[in-house]
Amino acid sequence: MLHPKLRTLTNKIRDKKLREKVIELLENPTFEIDGKIYAGLPLEISPAGLSHHHCYQGGYLEHVVSSANMALALCNTIEKIYGGKVNRDLVIAGILLHDIFKPITYTVNKNGSYGKTSLADYMDHLSIVISELVRKGFPLEVIHIVSAHHGEYGPIRPRTVEALICHLADLTDSRLDNEILSAARFLARRAVGEELFGLTSKEAFEIIHSKSVEGWEGVAKTVEKIMSKRKTRKA
Ligand SMILES: [Fe+2]
Ligand SMILES: [Fe+2]
Repeated sequence: MLHPKLRTLTNKIRDKKLREKVIELLENPTFEIDGKIYAGLPLEISPAGLSHHHCYQGGYLEHVVSSANMALALCNTIEKIYGGKVNRDLVIAGILLHDIFKPITYTVNKNGSYGKTSLADYMDHLSIVISELVRKGFPLEVIHIVSAHHGEYGPIRPRTVEALICHLADLTDSRLDNEILSAARFLARRAVGEELFGLTSKEAFEIIHSKSVEGWEGVAKTVEKIMSKRKTRKA
């Protein structure tokens, strides 16, 4: 069953054929190669990174939904302010699928941390998704959006408005999360002298907010609250 937040987004794809293709892949993000089927962490619980951004439980879903929100905001700006034309179906399909095979590259280690699967030793998420989109007969425009989503660091730069939108939305959301996590880690370290591991975006925003409202004392209180919550969860 598709997560309600993803369902809300797929419902916005008007082209029935494209909508059904996107839903089918989101519902069954497995990858078959040489007769072996690879399946990863469920999309709802997977992180979207191991260290830089969204590197916590639920990070994948958060990243995709947030990037989609940003992409749609960019569609509005381009249409309403610049008078440009955008195909929203392509933007939504592209942003929903851009990291679909990240979870297949992650596993949970014995100590609860995230690590890489054996498939990830041989293939990266971008190569996996491109092969699968081609195999499943996705439109070339969607394949381009996905292959160009890493911008200058990927195999091809964005060459359509829709690909540029998805690249910028992905970049902005990853950067936003990375900066928030780094800032919160720094504040926590300064306030309590300890490194806070496995921080989520919600906790990071809470720490930053407490600094603005109550200063260092506020940070220390929030960090202690987060740490004691973790201890009760473990017990
Ligand atoms: Fe990516
Ligand atoms: Fe991404």
